[in-house]
Amino acid sequence: MNGTATGLRPYALRCDHRTTPLGIGGRTPFLSWRLAADDDAPRGTAPAAYRVEVTPDDDSHAGWDTGRVEDPEAIGVVYAGPALRPRTRYHWQVTVWTADGAEGRERSWFETGLDAGEWRASWIANDWTAVEVVDPPEEGERALDAHGLLPCPLLRREFSASTAPVRARLYVSARGLYEMRINGRRVGDGELTPGWTDYRHRVQYQTYDVTALVREGGNVLAATLADGWWSGYVGFEPRRPGAHYGGFPQFIAQLHLDYADGSSQVIGTDERWRTSDGPIRYADLLMGECHDARRAAGGWDEPGFDDRDWPAARVADTGTDTLVPSVDEPVRALGELPAAAVTRIGPEAHVVDFGQNFAGRVRLTVRAPRRGQRIVIRHAETLDDDGGLYTANLRTAAATDTLITGADTVVFEPRFTYHGFRYAEVTGLAELNPGDVTGVVLHSDTPRAGTFDCADPAIRRLHENITWGQRSNFVSVPTDCPQRDERLGWLADAQVFLPTACLGADVAAFFTKWMHDVRDAQGPDGGFSNVAPRLAGVADEGAPGWGDAGVLVPWHLYRVYGDERFLADSLDAMCAWVDFVHRHNPDLVWRHKVGPHFADWLSIGRPTPREVVATAYFAHSAELTARAARVLGGDQADRAERYSALARDVRAVFTARFAGPDGRIEGDTQTAYLLALAFDLLPDDLASHAARRLAALVEEAGPGLTTGFLGVGLIAPVLDRWGRADLVHALLRRTRRPSWLYPLRHGATTIWERWDGYTEEHGFQAPAMNSFNHYALGSIGEWLYQGLAGLDQAPASVAYRELVVRPRPFDGEPFWAEAAYDSARGRIAVRWRQDDDGFRLDVTVPPGATATVHVPGDDHAAVREGEHPAGESPGVEFVGIETAATGGKTLVYRVESGDYRFFARRTG
Ligand code: BGC
Repeated sequence: MNGTATGLRPYALRCDHRTTPLGIGGRTPFLSWRLAADDDAPRGTAPAAYRVEVTPDDDSHAGWDTGRVEDPEAIGVVYAGPALRPRTRYHWQVTVWTADGAEGRERSWFETGLDAGEWRASWIANDWTAVEVVDPPEEGERALDAHGLLPCPLLRREFSASTAPVRARLYVSARGLYEMRINGRRVGDGELTPGWTDYRHRVQYQTYDVTALVREGGNVLAATLADGWWSGYVGFEPRRPGAHYGGFPQFIAQLHLDYADGSSQVIGTDERWRTSDGPIRYADLLMGECHDARRAAGGWDEPGFDDRDWPAARVADTGTDTLVPSVDEPVRALGELPAAAVTRIGPEAHVVDFGQNFAGRVRLTVRAPRRGQRIVIRHAETLDDDGGLYTANLRTAAATDTLITGADTVVFEPRFTYHGFRYAEVTGLAELNPGDVTGVVLHSDTPRAGTFDCADPAIRRLHENITWGQRSNFVSVPTDCPQRDERLGWLADAQVFLPTACLGADVAAFFTKWMHDVRDAQGPDGGFSNVAPRLAGVADEGAPGWGDAGVLVPWHLYRVYGDERFLADSLDAMCAWVDFVHRHNPDLVWRHKVGPHFADWLSIGRPTPREVVATAYFAHSAELTARAARVLGGDQADRAERYSALARDVRAVFTARFAGPDGRIEGDTQTAYLLALAFDLLPDDLASHAARRLAALVEEAGPGLTTGFLGVGLIAPVLDRWGRADLVHALLRRTRRPSWLYPLRHGATTIWERWDGYTEEHGFQAPAMNSFNHYALGSIGEWLYQGLAGLDQAPASVAYRELVVRPRPFDGEPFWAEAAYDSARGRIAVRWRQDDDGFRLDVTVPPGATATVHVPGDDHAAVREGEHPAGESPGVEFVGIETAATGGKTLVYRVESGDYRFFARRTG
C-alpha cells in the first residue's frame, strides 16, 4: 500500500531478511525495506527520514513506534520496542519521507514462534520391534540390506476439534526428516525439513499456518519420517559413514488451535500417536529411496482410518532445549526440467538427458503398471564413452531410487533424498515417454537477486553454469558438491564463493543460518572447523582459508546487507579464532594448528608455500576482526585497537619473512601475490612490484592461471585493481586448459571441481575426487558483475550506499554487457554497449545511493547524458579523468539516484 505520495516507494519489506516469516525466534528482529522511485520522481529523490510502526495483530498489548527518524541512509531498523510475545502476529509499516516531504508507505507482517518454555511435546519414534525390517531378497531391497537402512516410519494421531478454529499453528521438527499432512493434505512446501544443523546443538523447527486444514470434528495429524542427515549417510568417512547424530529418526510437533470463543487446544507428540512402517522401504540422502507402492496404506493420513493394529509411538526423548525456530527458508522444489532427450539403451532401459546438471530428483509417471514391477532410476552427472552412466565419481553414493509398483498408475517422486545429476537411467520400463519424466530442481529458497548477460555466448554460459552451481549446492547448507558421498559445508568453498553467491541470490537468511552452524562447530579453544555443521571425525581442525571463513563470511554479509548483527553475532567467535591462531603462533607466522592444511587446494604446478597462505589469512582475519569491532563501536573499541595492531604486526612479519626487496614473494606463485595484494599485506612500493610480478606470471602462463580454490576468486579483482583488466579479459576468454571456458568444450553445464575434470588426452580425472558440480572455481562470477558489467560498490561502502559503475570493455572491440542487482537498498542496473558509434552506458541508481560512473575515454566534451552534454545534465557532476596503471583513461562522473543514459561519441 502506498501512502499519499509521489517520490519513493518502500518495497521488499523483510523481517530478519525474510518475507513475512512465521515463527521467528529473535526478540529483536531486523525490519528492513528497499526503495524505488516513482516514475515521475526527479533525479536525486532521496530518503530523508523514516518511521516504523509495529502493532500486534490483536491489539492486546502495546506496539512500537520509532516516530520520525531523520536518517537518509537507513535501510532497516532493529526492533527496540516492548518485548514481543510468543505466537503473535505483528503488523508493521514503514513510512519514508523525501526531503521535500513526499511520503511513501508499505506494510508487512511477521509472527513470533513458540517460547522455548512452551513446548509440551516429546520426541517420538517408531516402535522398531514391530517393524519387519528385511524384505524378501528382491533386487530393489538388496540396497536396504547392504546399507542397513530402515523403512520410513509413519506416525498419526486423530483428534477432534469442537469447531473450525479461527487460527491454527503447527510447530514441527524432526531428528531426521519429516513430511507432515493434515487430513490428507500436505502441510507447507518445504523439502528435506527441518534441514541440517549440528543437531546436538540446535534443531530448527518450522511453523505453519494450518488454519485452513483443520476442520470441525475428526482430524488427523500424519507424518512420514526419514533418516536424513540425522541418522542417514553423510560424508565420506569410512569409519563413520552414517548415523552421525542418532540411530533412528524422531519427531516432534505441537499444534495450537484457537477458537472464536477464546478457548484453545494444544496437541503435541506423545505416546498417543500411532506408528507403522509404510511404502517407503528406505530413504537416504546418499543412497536413494525405495518406494513399494504395494504397501501403501490407503487413507492412513485421513480421519477414520483403522489404526488399531498400529503400535503406539515410543517417546524417545522429552528434552526440547535444542529446538530453535528456523531462521532460513527451507529447501523447496524451485524448478522443473523437461527431458531433453530419451535414449533407449536396452530392452527395458533408457537414459534420460535433462540437459542440465543439477540437484534434485526425477518425477516419473508409470501408467497402468503390472503389480510388482520394479523400476530403478540411477543418476549420474555425465556419460561414459559407451553412452551409459558414468557413476565412478559418486564414490559410495548409490544415488539409486527404486519404485515397486502396485496396480495403479503412479506418479513417483522420492521425497527424502536428492541427487546431483544430469542423466538418469530408468530400467524396468519397456517404453519411456519424454513427457513422463521431469527433473525436479531442489535448493534452499534463496530468491534470485542478480542477472548478468553479455555479448559473448561462452561467457553467458559460464555465468549460467555458476548460477547452477550455486543452486545445486545451496541445499540447507552451502555444500561442496551435490552428487558424491560428501555434500558437506566446507568452509573455504563457501567463503571463496560468497561474493558471487550474494550477487546471484538473496542469501542473507541462508547464511544467517549457516553462520550459526559455523559457530556451533567452533571448538572451546576458539578453533573453527573445516566443515559446518561439524561431523565427528571429519577434518575437525580448521585449515588456513577454511577456518577463516568464520571471519570472512560475516564481514562480507555485513558489507552486502548492511545488517550489523552479522558482526555482532560473530564478533566473539571471530576474536576467539584469531586469538587461537595467535596463541599457537606467537611469532606471527602461522605454522601450528593448521589442521589438514589444504593450502591453495587444487592449484596447478608449483604450490604456494603453506606458511605464506596461512600467514596471509592470519593477517586478513585479524584485520577484518578489527574492522568488525570498529563498526560495532562502543565497548568493542578496545578490540578494534587490539586486532588492528595485531593485523599490522602480522603484515609486517609477512613482509619481512616472505617478501623480497623487489616485491617477490616466497614461492613466487600467482596465489602468493594474490593473497598479499588482495589482503593489502605489503607496503605500497613492494605492492606495485608484486603486482607487476603477478602480471608477469599470468602472462608467462599463457596468459593463464595456476590458482586453486583460495587464489581463484582473487585473480580477477586483483589484476583489475592493478590496472590489468586486459589480462582478466584474456583469462576469461581462454579456452585452453586450465581456464573457465575449457569445460564448456566438454559440454559443462555447471562448474567443475578441477580444472582438468575431463581431458581429451586422459578422459576423466581420478574418480576419487572429480565432481562436475563444485562452485569454488566459479568465484569469477563476482567479477562478471563488478568488472565486466561494471556494477560494484566502493571499498568502504556498505549495503551499496556508494556505487562504482565502471564497465571493463574489451579494448576497442564491439561488445555489450549488462547486470542488474536487487541490492539491500533497491535495484541497481548497468548496461553498456561499445560499437562503431561510441560507448553507451545506462545506469540505474536506487534512492539513497550515489554512484561514481566511469565512461571510457578522455574527451569530456564528447559525452552526453540523455539530451544534454554530460556536464550540464541534472544530477550529473563531472569529476575528472582517471588513468589506469596501464594507461587506459576513464571520464569520471558523480550521479545521484535515478536513471542515466551516457553516450560517448567515438572521436578520432
Ligand atoms: C571437498 C572440497 C573441500 C576439500 C578440502 C574436498 O573433498 O570437495 O571442496 O574444500 O575437500 O580440501
